[in-house]
Amino acid sequence: MTVVLGIETSCDETGVGLVRDGVLLGDALSSSMAEHARFGGVVPEIAARAHVAAVVPCVNEALTRSGLSLNDVGAIAVTSGPGLATALHVGVAAAKAYAMTLGVPLYGVHHLAGHAAADTLEHGPLPAKSIVLIVSGGHTSLLLVNDLVLDPVVHLSDTLDDAAGEAFDKVARILGLSYPGGPAIDKVSRDGDPHAVKLPRPLTGPRDPKLGFSFSGLKTAVARHVEAEQKAGRELAVADIAASFQEAVADTLTRKAILACRLHDVSTLVVVGGVAANSRVRSLAAERCAAAGIELRVPPMRLCTDNGAMIAAVGDLLVRAEAKPASLSLATHPSIELTWAQLDRSVAEVLQNQ
Ligand code: KG4
Ligand code: ZN
Repeated sequence: MTVVLGIETSCDETGVGLVRDGVLLGDALSSSMAEHARFGGVVPEIAARAHVAAVVPCVNEALTRSGLSLNDVGAIAVTSGPGLATALHVGVAAAKAYAMTLGVPLYGVHHLAGHAAADTLEHGPLPAKSIVLIVSGGHTSLLLVNDLVLDPVVHLSDTLDDAAGEAFDKVARILGLSYPGGPAIDKVSRDGDPHAVKLPRPLTGPRDPKLGFSFSGLKTAVARHVEAEQKAGRELAVADIAASFQEAVADTLTRKAILACRLHDVSTLVVVGGVAANSRVRSLAAERCAAAGIELRVPPMRLCTDNGAMIAAVGDLLVRAEAKPASLSLATHPSIELTWAQLDRSVAEVLQNQ
């Protein structure tokens, strides 16, 4: 069985993981998050510079934790899109160097396929058909997934404006909470009343697209409420506002995800991406899936946010599917949609050419 080394550098986390036959052998993570905090968002040049410094130490640490050496690595997988261009370049260049010096195959992986594959490291192979809700800083999508690496991914809906994580980050800023906003809102909400502030549930009207997402209006509703409170000279009830916002997001996400399962006759829901780390999203999804008789799969918190193990997991699936590797001219795709888990060389294309 091949040991796959996965490298992730699409945003502010340098992640490396080693996976063999669906099993995570070890991983390492280095984050430049603290360096971006004072800018209120990720600064691509700072992220890229941090990746340059961290990528080799992360590979070495993941190897040490796995009890393996570089010579045990049989394939390299790397996020080649989507993400910040300069950040992606660092991971792809490192992956090529490892693939070339070790003489092993190289696979370009779609970052969002990585998020979905993360769950397989905890709960085993995905069923033949599942609904995947991807909720991250850059994406909010409901996907119909058959075989994650052999079949194209079908998009049932994508957010019309802000991603859920982006809304968390922006609302946190409005409330004066630290970056990244998701974990800050999650924490402060524990002391808040989720019904204290009446906030809209976007795109849930009878004429709205049933599976559609939009978070920009919700963010504006929070901003209006904050403005009104300040104008009235009242002290901001930060915990209550945060909890009410979190409840609105969790309600909308889980309601639509369960509807997608019903509409497509699918009995497994997989919730992945940074916002899947949110405690209310997790508990409401569990509650509603149990009531609807749907199996819920959510990766452990540390595999929800960006990491290298999830990219190695896709690489491992590709190796086992005997997908054709990429060439050393593998490109980066900063804004590519998720259709194929493998970038630059779809498995369908490979199978057709066989
Ligand atoms: O998947 P991810 O690590 O990176 C992207 O691919 O975007 O997601 C990052 C996003 C950020 O917007 C962050 O605020 C959000 O996930 N996030 C959370 C939580 N932890 C991270 N949002 C809500 N609650 C959390 N506990
Ligand atoms: Zn991500």
